[in-house]
Amino acid sequence: MKRIAFFDTKPYDKIWFDEYNDGRYEIVYFEGKLNRNTVGITAGFDGVCGFVNDDINADVINSLVKNNVKILAMRSAGYSNVDLKAAEGRLPVVRVPAYSPYAVAEHAMGLLLTVNRKLARAVTRTRDFNFSIAGLMGVDLHGKTVGVIGTGTIGRVFIDICRGFGMKVIAFDPYPAKDSGIDYVTLNELFSRSDIISLHCPLTDSSYHILNEAAFSLMKKGVFIINTSRGALVDTTALLNALNSEKVRGAALDVYEEETDLFFEDMSGTIIKDDTLALLISNPNVVLTSHQAFLTEEALQAIAKVTLDNLDDYFADKPLKNAVTRSNPNK
Ligand code: NAI
Repeated sequence: MKRIAFFDTKPYDKIWFDEYNDGRYEIVYFEGKLNRNTVGITAGFDGVCGFVNDDINADVINSLVKNNVKILAMRSAGYSNVDLKAAEGRLPVVRVPAYSPYAVAEHAMGLLLTVNRKLARAVTRTRDFNFSIAGLMGVDLHGKTVGVIGTGTIGRVFIDICRGFGMKVIAFDPYPAKDSGIDYVTLNELFSRSDIISLHCPLTDSSYHILNEAAFSLMKKGVFIINTSRGALVDTTALLNALNSEKVRGAALDVYEEETDLFFEDMSGTIIKDDTLALLISNPNVVLTSHQAFLTEEALQAIAKVTLDNLDDYFADKPLKNAVTRSNPNK
């Protein structure tokens, strides 16, 4: 039986992987993340299953190849943490391109409502029998212009949700969706016209810090920022400055550029040495969740099913429809 090393395991991962696996593979669940310190344990495994905060750099790829691992199956849509250049032609990398765009898009809207209407603070108050509503004022979303950066699977679901709220939608994408009825504008126009900006593009060299000081300088005063994509799309220092100057009215974040060693873990008994994160969390106009936008039952089921199907395709010498490396042994 083929053996799969599964990294960064959380209890919710096992539920659906065990159900769908149904004895097909011997899956060994490791709690640690895959990185240069842990890659040694992959010797003797046929495949490796990775996640978003593993650090799968060139050294780790070299070690996987040396350990005779045949395939790297990412159980995520994004793969910016994998050195694809190092993997190309040596280690096929597959992913789950779409599992539930609704999970992420709904979470993005949930975050926007939370930061705008200050819902987290309101609930904390009523739990303490404090029924004052002073300081909880938000704005109507109806009639506001939302600028969507990236109109792929998730971006388009988010657009539909925003239209349901009566918002006007403008968008930027280097590859506009044909016949979608979406009003595409340049990036600078999106920055200057939007009341709310939501990121739904992948992290690449060209999108790194797409929201930087220059971008914030073009934005309207009082803009809301939503990031459910990847932390490094936003220059966090520039965001903090824009929050302090009240250029940005609220930031709704599910991701953070330095999240790797923190997110998904209970750090409540630890002194956090990351001052930038501490400033973000203590800012009253920021809501931050711990990369949980994907976390719905439907998404987890789809992730398990597609990841196992990807492994089946590889080991049955079938074409790898979800490959992100170009040259793979199975075409
Ligand atoms: P997708 O591949 O369907 O769509 C991405 C879109 O972004 C494409 O239309 C592409 O043309 C566009 N794009 C590429 N570079 C761009 C740029 N520089 N500026 C603007 N647009 C650009 O991807 P999908 O499924 O919609 O996911 C989007 C992102 O959401 C993923 O890359 C991932 O980072 C993030 N994500 C976050 C999750 C979470 O739990 N927080 C879960 C799943 C995905």
